[in-house]
Amino acid sequence: MITKHGVRGGLVGAWILAGAVLALAPRSAPLGAAAVARARDTVHDSLLVPDSVYQGWKWWHVYCFRCHGEDAMHPVLATAPDLRWAVSPTGANFPRDSFVYTAWNGRPAKGMPAWNVLLDSSAIQEIYQYVKARSDGWLKPGRPHRLSDLQNKSK
Ligand code: HEC
Repeated sequence: MITKHGVRGGLVGAWILAGAVLALAPRSAPLGAAAVARARDTVHDSLLVPDSVYQGWKWWHVYCFRCHGEDAMHPVLATAPDLRWAVSPTGANFPRDSFVYTAWNGRPAKGMPAWNVLLDSSAIQEIYQYVKARSDGWLKPGRPHRLSDLQNKSK
């Protein structure tokens, strides 16, 4: 038989459980781009990025920066375009597919190497995400970090 006390105890238990689930969720749930964007807005952290953008930043600063410029700005090679401009709606408005195609196949005659020998298509997608974040402007120049990096640091 369920007593009045028993029912209330059950409810309190459920609340505590719900609280615990909410408290744990940010750490245990896989971190989607939306969650990262929310966290970024809350703490005004413009270097906080999802994993894909973080990986793109790493690839960029291995393979692309020496011509297209550090932090995807100020190209080093005079003939290499600023790719922030290339993917911007107010610039060349290069769609993602064309970006990936060009990065994959290069334009060897014009000094743009083909990257299909060194990078797979997911790496090139990640580079696109990085360049797009820099182009859209929410990602500032510098070394980005992920939510997991911050959590590890505060441990
Ligand atoms: C050795 C120098 C060099 C490196 C390294 C380099 N690029 Fe390029 N890239 C160029 C040049 C030069 C062009 C312009 C080609 C042309 O005039 O059509 C270019 C053009 C591009 C374009 C086309 C942009 C447009 O508006 O037409 C994309 C996309 C691109 N590069 C992506 C990349 C990516 C991604 C990497 C790194 C994986 C990279 N590039 C590394 C030299 C380089």
